[in-house]
Amino acid sequence: MNVHSTHTAANGSTHRHLLGIEDLSREDVFRILDRAMFYIENNRHQDKKHPILKGRTIINLFYENSTRTRTSFELAGKRLGADVINMTVASSSVKKGETLIDTAMTINAMHPDCIAMRHPESGACHLLAQKVNCSVINGGDGMHEHPTQALLDALTIMQHKGKIEGLQVAICGDILHSRVARSNIKLLNMLGAKVRIIAPPTLMPSCPESFGVEPFHDMRKGLKGCDIIIMLRLQLERMEGNFIPSVREYFHFWGLNEEKLSYAKPDALIMHPGPINRGVEIDSKLADDLNRSVILQQVEMGVAVRQAALEFLLHDHG
Ligand code: CP
Repeated sequence: MNVHSTHTAANGSTHRHLLGIEDLSREDVFRILDRAMFYIENNRHQDKKHPILKGRTIINLFYENSTRTRTSFELAGKRLGADVINMTVASSSVKKGETLIDTAMTINAMHPDCIAMRHPESGACHLLAQKVNCSVINGGDGMHEHPTQALLDALTIMQHKGKIEGLQVAICGDILHSRVARSNIKLLNMLGAKVRIIAPPTLMPSCPESFGVEPFHDMRKGLKGCDIIIMLRLQLERMEGNFIPSVREYFHFWGLNEEKLSYAKPDALIMHPGPINRGVEIDSKLADDLNRSVILQQVEMGVAVRQAALEFLLHDHG
């Protein structure tokens, strides 16, 4: 286990957290992915319970909208036998002005074992981890990281390609605002993939080479010979000002369609973290093409990976 994955909170307690990919060693990653494979099978049975976390309490604290991440943390916790509470921020005392720290201390007083948090500010999960006496999992913080998304993406790739090392992976679209891109770049680099990022100049971070990737501003050149294509949503909620001339023009240059896809390898997989915007970053027919698109399989992998991550943090101290 990587030393960074255990943090000492301000109150002196030490717990395992999953705040970013740096919290994991290569060994940790393979341990989580191996265990997730067990949960994939287990989740396909009628009886999905594997109650190793019986008696534990997990709180979902989501300050931003979510369908996949919040639901899969809830399912993951329940299938592991934990009690799972979904705190709906919109109907909580956050709306009366309670700060993140006061909310954290309030939840902490109820003795949870784990908090899975999503927050619009980068670094909010690190702050939470300093304040509470339990494990914290980052379910997406601003433009910073979304580590369980990267793990589920890696698991999806492993399921189809049997490996990650040496694969050519293209991440395309709004790289600038994407926490999914940041976590994926770190994890894919750690696992030996060759990562390209493809984006218009306005949506490309500055000094992209410093991320250990090959940047492209031309979709066809960037997709040439790729094994994996990860399309990203335009993160309109993080944009102040105009980053694209129009949605129509964005789709023309940066949207994935059959013609642009033909530059990738014939067996290239199409991935997308969701939610997808049909006709904006991806052609609707391609998104639904079960021979190429693994978008719904990513959702399935999300539950298994979150079960494995919860086990890793709360149960598996070997
Ligand atoms: N991929 C992802 O994080 O989806 P949600 O926003 O629905 O959780």
